[in-house]
Amino acid sequence: MSKPSKTEFDVIVWGATGFTGRLVAEYLARTQDKHGARWALAGRDRGKLEQIRGSLVGLNAACAELPLLLADAKDAASLDAMVSRTRVIVTTVGPYARHGSELVAACVRNGTDYCDLTGEVQWMRKMIDAHHAGARESGARIVHTCGFDSIPSDLGVLMLQEFMREHHASHCDRIRLFVTKMRGGISGGTVASALQVMEDVRADPSLRRVLSNPHGLDPEPRRGRPEERDQMGVHYSKELGRWTGPFFMAPVNTRVVRRSNALLGHPWGQDFLYSEAASFSRGPKGLLTALSMAGGVGAFFVAASVPAVRRQLEKHVLPAPGTGPSAEDRERGCFDILLLGEGKAQGGGRVKLEGRVAAQGDPGYAATARMLAESALCLAFDSIASEGGVLTPASSMGMKLVERLRRAGMTFEVKPASA
Ligand SMILES: NC(=O)c1ccc[n+]([C@@H]2O[C@H](COP(=O)([O-])OP(=O)(O)OC[C@H]3O[C@@H](n4cnc5c(N)ncnc54)[C@H](OP(=O)(O)O)[C@@H]3O)[C@@H](O)[C@H]2O)c1
Repeated sequence: MSKPSKTEFDVIVWGATGFTGRLVAEYLARTQDKHGARWALAGRDRGKLEQIRGSLVGLNAACAELPLLLADAKDAASLDAMVSRTRVIVTTVGPYARHGSELVAACVRNGTDYCDLTGEVQWMRKMIDAHHAGARESGARIVHTCGFDSIPSDLGVLMLQEFMREHHASHCDRIRLFVTKMRGGISGGTVASALQVMEDVRADPSLRRVLSNPHGLDPEPRRGRPEERDQMGVHYSKELGRWTGPFFMAPVNTRVVRRSNALLGHPWGQDFLYSEAASFSRGPKGLLTALSMAGGVGAFFVAASVPAVRRQLEKHVLPAPGTGPSAEDRERGCFDILLLGEGKAQGGGRVKLEGRVAAQGDPGYAATARMLAESALCLAFDSIASEGGVLTPASSMGMKLVERLRRAGMTFEVKPASA
């Protein structure tokens, strides 16, 4: 159900002065004539906001009139004043565990819809426990992970499941996702957020259990089965004819997909099996890349867990807050994802499906800005059936968002698998 438009704005972008927030604002400016939303820029620094607005005028002259709102993460009154003026707030103010909790609370109090880019599972768990019941009451739809993590996974799975329901009156009891192509960079805010997870775990080691539980984001977390553990090693897949290794976003995406299944009432079964991996070419080069990816991600986290090493990495190696991949690199980036699903056919036997989710543009920035902005527009304008709560993209916006993203140039395809 779309909410009444009694508010002054449809969408406010909070964090518009940051690296990703600015890209979201640019996307909304470029597509203004298509979406027609009443929107505004928000942040904590008027001077910076004026600069951003000035740069948007080059994309769309109408942006000269964009309203600017001031709100600081530490000032709950400023957050209440901001969220009460809009139907939807988009936030790129991260790390979310450091700056995001008061905003979620304000949205829940005011019944305002919300979407973000967090991949901080420990913080999402905290928000679910603190606010799911309140958001159900106030009608606020709080939707985390509306970027590269976890829209391709969450909506890719939904797309396969919907196809299975429509064409076979059944569901996939198993889906495996493989990242077959990915070219992109990283921003200071993303690095800060990854390090924030490590900091939170150091302060409260019990969070390790939340992070390692495959069902850590379920409404009632249950223990995962051994076959639900994330892939850590390197394997050769005969079926793909490719080497596979761990996909670094799997510990976020798989939890989100399982939460979607649970929030929707387990339409894909209680035993639905879901996994993610990165895939590489078949020869020795593919094996080497898989091994170096597997080793590299682990080595980074081990190194960054030593405070002195981490300080050096932050100072000399990693991108600073507010910075990220260049416009050229963002344009050259891309991702391509393959989903293999299978389930029981009605008359016996198995049905196999093959899905693809892909986009041009750096996955974490160009493509993510598009996904996040379209999520906000979907919450504001589309007729979606979800009620309030701390939700996922699939359980809140579902196929309406898939349709939007297709219209915005992303690929979401599904077909029977070739034998
Ligand atoms: N899921 C994905 O695919 C994905 C992709 C990209 C980014 N992200 C996430 O998005 C978040 C932002 O990343 P980024 O690289 O864009 O970060 P960034 O460039 O450092 O931007 C952070 C923003 O937060 C604002 N901010 C900081 N403290 C604030 C406060 N106390 N009150 C109000 N605003 C405050 C900053 O404002 P000032 O300009 O005034 O400092 C800035 O606008 C990170 O958590 C990152 O992990 C996720």
